[in-house]
Amino acid sequence: MPNVLTYGTFDLFHIGHLRLLERAKALAGADGKLIVAVSTDEFNWNAKQKKCAIPYEERAAIVAALRCVDKVIPEECWEQKTQDVEKYNVDIFVMGNDWEGKFDFLQSQCEVVYHPRTEGISSTKSNTDLHG
Ligand code: CTP
Repeated sequence: MPNVLTYGTFDLFHIGHLRLLERAKALAGADGKLIVAVSTDEFNWNAKQKKCAIPYEERAAIVAALRCVDKVIPEECWEQKTQDVEKYNVDIFVMGNDWEGKFDFLQSQCEVVYHPRTEGISSTKSNTDLHG
């Protein structure tokens, strides 16, 4: 069965995150593995100028505790994807469609799938709704 890899920050974990991860695991099937790369605090800040509400260790622990997730690795730079696909024998790379087209360069190594995002929710929105 295929191994599936996805990346994300997963700050203030919400239903859009869960749906994305459950769909990714469905692609892996019963025997395939879902590997999730969770962005470190440093990567988020250096690459996206984003400050997380929840520290990396806690975000990674929450994602790792999900039934649909088999392994969590850190995302530390943009360039690691090619190596990760090779290292973890990845067959399918999954991202939400806010990233549509951005990772097509991985198609030479594996299948690339963009899932529709869940409407109306994001970590940024949750944070803003709470804190203004
Ligand atoms: N995702 C999704 N539906 C949402 C929000 C996120 O399917 N409503 C997906 C993203 O497309 C990505 C993964 O979940 O593949 C992790 O997204 P992340 O960037 O951590 O979450 P966001 O809520 O979009 O965070 P932010 O508001 O900081 O952009």
